[in-house]
Amino acid sequence: NELAAFVQGLPKAELHLHIEGTLEPELKLELARRNGISLPYSTPEEIRAAYSFHDLTSFLVGYYDGMNVMRGEEDFYDLALAYLRKASSQGVRYAEIFFDPQAHTSRGVPFPVVVRGLRRALVDGRRLLGIRAELIMCFLRDFSAEYAMATLMEALPFKDWILGVGLDSDERDNPPVKFAAVFARARAEGFFLTMHCDVDQQDTAENLRQVLEVIGVDRIDHGVNVLESPALVSAVLERGIGFTVCPVSNGFVTDGLKALEVKRMLELGLKPTLNSDDPAYFAGKYVADNFVAVAEAGLSRSELVQLARNSFEIAWLPDSARHTFV
Ligand code: HPA
Ligand code: ZN
Repeated sequence: NELAAFVQGLPKAELHLHIEGTLEPELKLELARRNGISLPYSTPEEIRAAYSFHDLTSFLVGYYDGMNVMRGEEDFYDLALAYLRKASSQGVRYAEIFFDPQAHTSRGVPFPVVVRGLRRALVDGRRLLGIRAELIMCFLRDFSAEYAMATLMEALPFKDWILGVGLDSDERDNPPVKFAAVFARARAEGFFLTMHCDVDQQDTAENLRQVLEVIGVDRIDHGVNVLESPALVSAVLERGIGFTVCPVSNGFVTDGLKALEVKRMLELGLKPTLNSDDPAYFAGKYVADNFVAVAEAGLSRSELVQLARNSFEIAWLPDSARHTFV
């Protein structure tokens, strides 16, 4: 239809996408077969029917469970190339892709296997599809700060392949300050910094304050609760910090898409963007589907255009490259 065609044709950057969250049931079955792992499901439909979550914690259980089929470099390669094909078909020109190395090293998959497979897919994606992409390494906030620091050290030999670091997983009792030393070191090593401030969590306002005042992030993932505090809004405006909002994801793990919050953020001059987060778990809705969802919830065409523009504006691209996409 006309809206879908309009959205597909908008050049977009995707900045909040967990590569492990793009594991579609079909590929999950294929990787299980490849690696000799038996699953309690034999069809994609059975896998889809078993997904049931209502909040971040219940989503994360299935998300980590699903990764168990990923073992070798080729698995990570196939996962990432499949995402790039899908994203490219939806008009994504550039992606900054999260990966969760500790979700793999904690079950015995070596760090280099993960990063080499992903990197090779990014190189081929550019060659075969013309889409550009970079990696952002996320630490799991429910693991210790020591494990995060050790992971950062393991990443240093691969520094040229990793643009920035982030923080994800379960926010409850794992505030940003827990990782202050890790992020200070990451900054000193030249990485860009971002952190998840998931929607409607415990102490959201305090966590937003910490990412701004203590960590000094370059961007905020989710973060729509900033609207609850005029002081936080001013702090963000002053620093020009952007937000990676994920409407369809919000629809699954919170009480709604938060589309009107996105509209309000635009009105205040904040810089929200739209992203798909973990599309394989959220009804297979990729980034263009998120644009369609907020349009159907009342955002105008010019607001969609602004959201797409914001994605290049807050991307961690050199200024020389920033305008070559639009
Ligand atoms: N929030 C926290 N952890 C996550 C998410 C998210 O949106 N996606 C994958 N891990
Ligand atoms: Zn996320």
